Amino acid sequence: MPIQPSAAGGAQGTVEVLAEFARGLKDLDGFSHIILLYHFHQVTETRLVVTPFLDTQPRGVFATRAPVRPNPIGLSIVRLLRREQNVLHVENVDILDGTPLLDIKPYVPVFDHRPDSRSGWLEETPDLLEGRRSDRRFS
Ligand SMILES: C[S@@+](CC[C@H](N)C(=O)[O-])C[C@H]1O[C@@H](n2cnc3c(N)ncnc32)[C@H](O)[C@@H]1O
Repeated sequence: MPIQPSAAGGAQGTVEVLAEFARGLKDLDGFSHIILLYHFHQVTETRLVVTPFLDTQPRGVFATRAPVRPNPIGLSIVRLLRREQNVLHVENVDILDGTPLLDIKPYVPVFDHRPDSRSGWLEETPDLLEGRRSDRRFS
């Protein structure tokens, strides 16, 4: 299971939009990437301090991407391969099958890319996310 789209190694999946909302997909085809917001529906607990998958130190949950958050909402930027009516074919997926989707937004570099950003504790281990997949639960 990939832990982030950036390390998902081309994992493909589909996003199915209910027919009643399908008209809202108009014009999405022109975007190479989309932002998916979804419910981490398999989460059964909330933690305020977690040890992330690739770390050994406890971190405040809001300084991590751990699913075990008070409002278990996930955010993944995935590549949009193509659309077939109400089904989006996407790549670089770190989302479980059957996950309930909350929203779709286009990824727009001029809005969403921050070249001057810092990555907090993740900068202590710069190669942290490269090609890594989860092999354990959060503790
Ligand atoms: C570290 S989270 C990052 C998710 C997202 N990219 C984010 O930043 O919000 C990715 C992990 O969430 C877990 N996950 C994915 N879908 C889930 C779901 N529906 N319920 C619970 N856990 C899920 C999987 O273990 C996956 O490896």
